[in-house]
Amino acid sequence: MLHPETLAALNLLASRTQGAVLEIGPYIGGSTIAIASATRGRVPFITIEHGGAHNHPTLPTQDTVADLKANLARVGLTDYVRILVGISREPAIKAQVAEALGGRKITLCMIDADGRVGLDIEAYQDLMAEDCVLVFDDYETRDEGNVKQSLVKSWVLEAERAGLVTRLGVLPWSTWFGVRGGHWGRALFRDY
Ligand SMILES: C[S@@+](CC[C@H](N)C(=O)[O-])C[C@H]1O[C@@H](n2cnc3c(N)ncnc32)[C@H](O)[C@@H]1O
Repeated sequence: MLHPETLAALNLLASRTQGAVLEIGPYIGGSTIAIASATRGRVPFITIEHGGAHNHPTLPTQDTVADLKANLARVGLTDYVRILVGISREPAIKAQVAEALGGRKITLCMIDADGRVGLDIEAYQDLMAEDCVLVFDDYETRDEGNVKQSLVKSWVLEAERAGLVTRLGVLPWSTWFGVRGGHWGRALFRDY
């Protein structure tokens, strides 16, 4: 789950993005609705979810993809989201993403999945704009022993040191915002 301020930032970025949006890990649609309510078909928005049941303490689901679809329908956003069901790094899923992009580049990528952000970026970097805006949830460890969260932070710190990504900031509940490459100015201000 994302903090309301983080959802608002995601919504704003989605409303400005010029290429396409890729989301990995929509669950039942919190972040997906924040993005789709801004894009509304103006740019392609593709989300990848591997599905299944999840015993979440406050928002459990027996069928993630069915609940994602139901929630999008409830708010009238079904037509603005292409849902792909599978693991993000599967070649067949990547092929479907490429087809859905129709030659456009990903300019906003939101990852809130299994913590392996480095593998996802590696898988999709050739489909991303040079200055693609990146959003990764679970940046900081909130409780000891949560491997997913420390995986995100350790990859980001390495990538920042190597100049692969540049940090914009970390918003509440530990969602990292940044851009590909070594400078953030172009990505955010290109269209102003
Ligand atoms: C923390 S939840 C996402 C919460 C959601 N972003 C929100 O705003 O409510 C993580 C989701 O990512 C999915 N997931 C994890 N790893 C994945 C992967 N490699 N590919 C696709 N989906 C994945 C899980 O099934 C789960 O639904």
